[in-house]
Amino acid sequence: MKIPEINKIILLVGLMGSGKTSVGKRLARKLSLPFVDGDAEIEKAAGLSLVDVLKCFGEAEYRAGEERVMKRLLKGAPCVLASGGGSFVAEQTRALAKENALTVWLKADINTLYHRTAGRTRRPFLLGDNETVKHKLQEYITEEYPYYSEADIVVETRDERVEYTVRHVIAAINNYYRKSGKKTENKGKQKMKIKELVFASHNAGKIAEIKQILTPLGISVKSAADMNLPDVAETGTTFAENSLLKSQTIAKAVGLPCIADDSGLCVDALNGAPGVYSARYAPDRDFDKGMDKLLNQMEQSADKSRKAHFSCVVSLAFPNGEYKLFEGRVDGTIATAKMTGTEGFGYDPLFVPDGYNISFAQMEKSEKNKISHRGRAMQKFKDYLASL
Ligand code: IMP
Repeated sequence: MKIPEINKIILLVGLMGSGKTSVGKRLARKLSLPFVDGDAEIEKAAGLSLVDVLKCFGEAEYRAGEERVMKRLLKGAPCVLASGGGSFVAEQTRALAKENALTVWLKADINTLYHRTAGRTRRPFLLGDNETVKHKLQEYITEEYPYYSEADIVVETRDERVEYTVRHVIAAINNYYRKSGKKTENKGKQKMKIKELVFASHNAGKIAEIKQILTPLGISVKSAADMNLPDVAETGTTFAENSLLKSQTIAKAVGLPCIADDSGLCVDALNGAPGVYSARYAPDRDFDKGMDKLLNQMEQSADKSRKAHFSCVVSLAFPNGEYKLFEGRVDGTIATAKMTGTEGFGYDPLFVPDGYNISFAQMEKSEKNKISHRGRAMQKFKDYLASL
C-alpha cells in the first residue's frame, strides 16, 4: 500500500470506543509522525485522571480545559492526534481543525462501541451499568454524529483487527488527496543535501557509531558533547516524543539539522515497561541491578509471557521545525537468567532476538547491528539520506 507523505496534523475523531488511540498509534507509526493522545494531554495538564477532573471541576470546566488543550495541540507540530471523546463538538476546535488538520472520523455503530467500552472505568462519561452505558452511547450518537460528519474523511470501523482499520484509513487518505486534487501537504518539505549535522548525544559509543555511518556519505557530524550543549530532559511519554524533544530543541538552538534517538525495552508481561523509562528503571543506572529488577517483576506478574521488543526512534529535525522520524524494532524473548557475553550493554544479556538462541550480549556487534532496533531505524535514516 502506498504510504502518503503527510506533514500535517491528522486529527482522529469519534465516540469513546471508536478506536482513536489504538488506530492512532499504529497510523502514526506508518506515517512516521508522532502520536499524541488528547485525553492523556488533558490529564497531564490537570495533573488528575479524567474521572477526577470531571468529579472535581464539573463538566463545564472539563470541557473548557479540553478546548484549551486541543487549541494548543491543533496549533502545534504535525502528528496523529487522537481527540478526546466529545472535543470535536466545540466550535473553536472544529474551526481550528479545518484550518490546520486533516480530520478523520472513525465511525462505529452502537454495538461495536458498546462492546469496546463496557466495563471500562477510565471513561468518565460512560460509567454505570450496561443499560445506562448503552443508553448514554445512543444519546451521544444522536447528539455528536452531526458534528463528526463535518470531518474531511469518514472511515467505518467494525470489529476487526486494528491493522485493517489502519489500512482503511490510509486508503481513505490516499483517496481523499486523489479526489480533491490536493497535494499531500508535503510541499516545502526539506529535501536538500545535508552536509553538516548535529547528533544530540553525549554517549561516546553512539557518537562513534553515527560518525562511522555518516562520514562516508560526506556529512560532517558534531555531537552535543563536541559543542558543549547541555542534555535535553526526556519528559515525553513515547520514544518519538523524546527523540523529537532532543532533535528539535538542538536544531532550533544551533541553526543546523540535528538527529537524535530514543530507545528502550518493552516487555509484554509488564504492559510494555520499562519502555521509555528503560534507563531510569535500573537502580543507580546499574543495568545488572536493572536486569534483576526486571526478572523479579516478571516473576511476580500474572502474565507469564516472555515476549519483549526493543524499539528505537531516530528523528531528524531542521531549524525551521520540519522533521522526519525513522523507527526500528526487534522482537524477541526475555531469558529466565542473564546470558552474559563479551558484547552489548544495558539489557542485552536478557534479550534473545527471535530466530536466535543467543542473547544480544553474545552476538557480534555487526550481527546485532543488522537486526537491532537501532540498526533498523538507522538503515531507514540512511535510505532517506540517499534519496535526497
Ligand atoms: P537511550 O535511547 O539512550 O535513552 O536508551 C535508553 C535505555 O534503553 C538504555 O539505557 C538501555 O538501558 C536501553 N537500551 C536501548 N537500546 C538497547 C540495546 O540495544 N541493548 C540493551 N539495552 C538497550
